[in-house]
Amino acid sequence: MADPIKISELRKDYKFKALLESDVLTDPIEQFKVWFDEAMQAQLPEPNAMCLSTIQHNQPSSRYVLLKGIEHQGFVFFSNYNSNKGSEMEAIPNVALNFIWLELERQVRVEGTVSKLTDAENDDYFYSRPIGSQIGAIVSAQSSVLKDRKELDDAWTAIEGKYHTEKPIRPEHWGGYLVKPNKIEFWQGRSSRLHDRLLFTLNEGKWELCRLSP
Ligand SMILES: Cc1cc2nc3c(=O)[nH]c(=O)nc-3n(C[C@H](O)[C@H](O)[C@H](O)COP(=O)(O)O)c2cc1C
Repeated sequence: MADPIKISELRKDYKFKALLESDVLTDPIEQFKVWFDEAMQAQLPEPNAMCLSTIQHNQPSSRYVLLKGIEHQGFVFFSNYNSNKGSEMEAIPNVALNFIWLELERQVRVEGTVSKLTDAENDDYFYSRPIGSQIGAIVSAQSSVLKDRKELDDAWTAIEGKYHTEKPIRPEHWGGYLVKPNKIEFWQGRSSRLHDRLLFTLNEGKWELCRLSP
């Protein structure tokens, strides 16, 4: 039998690219779009997956959600307003986002404040989703405890049939969020762990750039 792989011996030297101050645009949201396009061009799996961290009672909690747009100078995603994350963001609207594009040896960290989208924006996106996802949003009381898988499947079966003839209605508790950033860090892996870290901080409405030690 082959020797088991030791986790402590997993290592990769990052050599793909450098990130210099002269490489980045002065607006970090525009810079984010450049990196996001490169992640799309590289055909990475789910380049729009981002880790969202929220806080409750001083306890951070993280999960992945999907970026669905860059609008109003911020990052948009959709969820259930009654979910755990929903109540956490209601109580404390300070959040962090993290994108990891390993094939490009890149990470982007975002910190900012979150607000809800309008009903009209929520409707636009909800009705653009496949019907199965619309029904799923109606069926799932996200983050609540289920007795078993059957309870969820039964809830689906109980209502799915009526949507063969009726249009689903977006639940009021299902909608989008906009994260308005006040910090965005672009991280590019470099050799010998001497990575490039360029941090944009919003100061009195202006983005300031500095380089952080890796
Ligand atoms: C790749 C990926 C994408 C996801 N996208 C979303 C999403 O856009 N919205 C969402 O509510 N949950 C999404 N989820 C599920 C969340 O990670 C999480 O399980 C769910 O939102 C419940 O989180 P909460 O109980 O902390 O509120 C995604 C999970 C993964 C792994």
